[in-house]
Amino acid sequence: MTDKPTNTLTEEQAAAEAAKLRPQLLAWGKQYYDADAPSVEDDVYDRVYARLVALEEAFPAIVTPESPTQRVGGSVRGDLPKVAHTIPMLSLGDVFSLAELSEFNDRLRANVDEDFDYNCELKIDGLAISLRYENGKFVQGSTRGNGQIGEDITANLKMIPSIPQTLSRPLTIDVRGECYMPKAAFLALNERREAAGQAPFANPRNAAAGSLRQLDTQVTADRQLATFMYNIADYEPLNTRTQSGLLDELAELGFTTNPAYRVAHTMDEVWAYIDTYQAQRSNLPYGIDGIVIKANSLPLQRAIGATVKVPRWAIAYKFPPEEVQTVVENIEWTVGRTGIVTPTAVMDPVVLAGSTVARASLHNPDYLQAKDIRLGDTVLLHKAGDIIPEISQVVGDKRPADAEVYPIPTRCPSCGAELVHLDEEVALRCINPNCPAQLAEGMNHFASRNAMNIAGLGPQIVAQLFARKLVTNVASLYRLTTDQLLTLDKFGEKSAQNLLTAIDNSRNNSLERLLFGLGIRHVGAKAARSLAANFGDLNSLMAADSETIAAIDTIGGIIADSVVTYFDSEPVQALMKELATVGVNLTYTSGPSEPVDPLGTFANQRVVLTGKLNELTRPEATTWLEQHGATVTGSVSKKTDLLIAGEAAGSKLTKAQSLNIPIWDEAQLLAAMNENK
Ligand code: IVH
Repeated sequence: MTDKPTNTLTEEQAAAEAAKLRPQLLAWGKQYYDADAPSVEDDVYDRVYARLVALEEAFPAIVTPESPTQRVGGSVRGDLPKVAHTIPMLSLGDVFSLAELSEFNDRLRANVDEDFDYNCELKIDGLAISLRYENGKFVQGSTRGNGQIGEDITANLKMIPSIPQTLSRPLTIDVRGECYMPKAAFLALNERREAAGQAPFANPRNAAAGSLRQLDTQVTADRQLATFMYNIADYEPLNTRTQSGLLDELAELGFTTNPAYRVAHTMDEVWAYIDTYQAQRSNLPYGIDGIVIKANSLPLQRAIGATVKVPRWAIAYKFPPEEVQTVVENIEWTVGRTGIVTPTAVMDPVVLAGSTVARASLHNPDYLQAKDIRLGDTVLLHKAGDIIPEISQVVGDKRPADAEVYPIPTRCPSCGAELVHLDEEVALRCINPNCPAQLAEGMNHFASRNAMNIAGLGPQIVAQLFARKLVTNVASLYRLTTDQLLTLDKFGEKSAQNLLTAIDNSRNNSLERLLFGLGIRHVGAKAARSLAANFGDLNSLMAADSETIAAIDTIGGIIADSVVTYFDSEPVQALMKELATVGVNLTYTSGPSEPVDPLGTFANQRVVLTGKLNELTRPEATTWLEQHGATVTGSVSKKTDLLIAGEAAGSKLTKAQSLNIPIWDEAQLLAAMNENK
């Protein structure tokens, strides 16, 4: 760092420098907390923050109440209800070197009369949450917000399997911990987002934060979030009096805790712990950004106390981010299933955070241009969120004199068709329906597990099938013969037979698998299931107009329009005929669908329907209510929570009125359906 040592500065100089740093930190902090989209690396933020702390510590008179050092960070989003934390949720002080960690230890030991142990824990890279239990029942969950006031995210947290609804003992406690997205879930989510033309999340933490602030709890449920709990606002109700014991007791109560903690009696043991997990970091299935050391005795923690912002009994040792230099040798453009053409930087291979890296996605032309990456450039490479190789920036001094601005292609690298931007998307697309690269990607999707589930039909085989002209589209898969398959690399009788059997079996799949496998824009597995269940067979769906399709409760106008547009095309109609000819099942044969949102608006509500509904049929209304957690019963009693009364309702309405049971009309039900789409 080129910062001047604080003891060489005058107070005016320190004040001037701090005044420059504060708005910058506040702006970065706001992007980080409110927009879930950091604009700088954590490391840059941390270092600038550390500099401000150093300036303010050296010259306490320059501290301002607005300084980012005086708040826990983050602000409360207006669109979620607020929760006051009765006991504030603190952050952690951090250190970046073993020397600084040593100083922390010396300072603490100098101020504490007794000998004490540390509990070492992994610093999970997620976001802090607080869970309130009353008599053992989960009643409220919140984010940290600014430390005093957080956001109420109870409904979202209820969708996370590792959060117990009921504890093994009827305690009233506030338990704190970290909510995170496992690396694998993060990668899969970003893959889905990119395939749908959506911007990928920068890292798992942002993805977790975005998922928790969702208004649609079903989206949260699909995001595979997980938790590690590590703290309690007040330890009194527990049996244990140590931090390590606390982790064990939280686990006994039903929480998920991180098993990798260790009690350290000496600093040597702390160093050993840091070494172990710094080396393990890239192998863990979740991101960690450091190690937290905490005085192990809970009464001692209480005696030592905290500043307004951080406990004095704990500190975070932050890992240095791994960053390496390498040279960009090529930029490859690949065509995805939906025609999106994505640039990838191909680099001189380097080892980074535990793996060899030679490629990094450049996402889209805007990204490539914004970073101004040119062939031959030396670049700084890091792993975003500890996983995804990403180019941070070009090393300007090392740019070859003859490096030219990289031209954005105008033609598809696979078929040569002109590339376009649809609906002002940043993504570049090839819209030729016969583009070979798209067809091959489309076939990979068709064969994938949630689609037609054809085991053994992977990308390499698909590429060969196309290269040898053995297939032209997905229907032609069903005409393949053993002899044809025997011409593929490393294919013997047995592998040919296995693949043919897998293809053959897929003929009998229920319609939703085919609908998903066709890769219709915006039609994911869930929408495909709703479409199949509601229309029953392909012909009815193909004959339906957009309005009829959008009338299905889980299907919106965008999906409906996309379905209609898809089946409107002649080549698609020809393909459907071909699929019928080769014997692919075109009807819905699966059982009733799983509950969509069992913990949703109607969770545990007993609902009665009466009278004549105009927009909906009775079964439609019943199914929807049940999918959203309701029990639909036939008669009104004191136990009924809601009566939905259509036209000309009779005795049930009168009875509900006399029992003061809430009554909705059909319009209110339709509005609820719309809200829960
Ligand atoms: S203890 C008063 N333990 O790191 C207790 N925090 O940078 C304060 N974090 O706000 C927190 N893993 O969100 C603690 N094992 C761990 C942690 C952990 C991750 C987070 C937490 C905290 C942030 C501070």
